[in-house]
Amino acid sequence: MAFVNKLAIIAGGVGGIGSATGRLLRSQGAKLALLYAPFEAQRVSSVLKQTYTDFDNDDDSIKTYACDITQPESVKEAFGKIGEDRVAVPNMLINSAGYVNLMSMSTLTPQDSLLHYQINVHGTLLCAQAFHALYLEHRTLMLNAITSSQLPSSTKISGARIVNIASQAGHVALKDHGAYCASKAALLALTRQMASEWGSEGVVANSISPGPVWTELGKKAWGDVKVREEYQAAVPTGNFAEPEEVAEIA
Ligand SMILES: NC(=O)c1ccc[n+]([C@@H]2O[C@H](COP(=O)([O-])OP(=O)(O)OC[C@H]3O[C@@H](n4cnc5c(N)ncnc54)[C@H](OP(=O)(O)O)[C@@H]3O)[C@@H](O)[C@H]2O)c1
Repeated sequence: MAFVNKLAIIAGGVGGIGSATGRLLRSQGAKLALLYAPFEAQRVSSVLKQTYTDFDNDDDSIKTYACDITQPESVKEAFGKIGEDRVAVPNMLINSAGYVNLMSMSTLTPQDSLLHYQINVHGTLLCAQAFHALYLEHRTLMLNAITSSQLPSSTKISGARIVNIASQAGHVALKDHGAYCASKAALLALTRQMASEWGSEGVVANSISPGPVWTELGKKAWGDVKVREEYQAAVPTGNFAEPEEVAEIA
């Protein structure tokens, strides 16, 4: 139970990798703040029932927050509520919201191109900034309590972790994934920047670059049998990853 009294905030919290990561962190004692897009509201209770079979609504171990990560006001509101609820130390952020739509470089539309950057890059940045501010607020409260002797000087302040789910697409070209590849490469750069700027404040940032994972997003990219078979033939193991494997790494 490594994460007792710790809060993991998961953007894309009712998605495939987000759910697997939430389940694993909760099994280690973490409380969860699951962010879901307002347009996903109808799915939330069924995902909770399926993913967290022992969860009941009186339990404060999971709270859900509507949040369109591309909208600054929506992110501000969701993180404001998380701060008010303060069910545990807010020291983990898993950025697992994402978007893909396959189009060739010549047919990619301006709107769809932009949507990849808005969700995969800009939305992730907005969540990371809001999380960083929330964590620093917690850290300042702790430091003040130690300085004023409300807490013993030996009190250990937990560091924070940001895990951005990037993709193999950030490293290599993939057929019809132009905007997705570019957005994930940008996310790798953004993660390095978070790590570089925030590490000295106790916030460590990392990214994970999975290959194909069999989730709704994975099915959107690889659902076509011919496309899937061609791709799988090039994977040394011959398999897609399971969301649980990504969760283990996170
Ligand atoms: N599956 C793969 O093959 C694979 C491989 C490498 C990396 N990844 C990355 O892993 C992450 C998780 O993806 P997944 O495979 O778990 O897919 P998923 O099940 O589709 O989860 C992604 C979640 O992000 C949500 N989302 C989309 N736009 C949003 C917005 N504006 N605000 C808030 N939430 C939003 C989605 O909601 P809706 O479902 O309503 O759109 C969905 O719940 C993504 O960043 C993805 O790019 C996936």
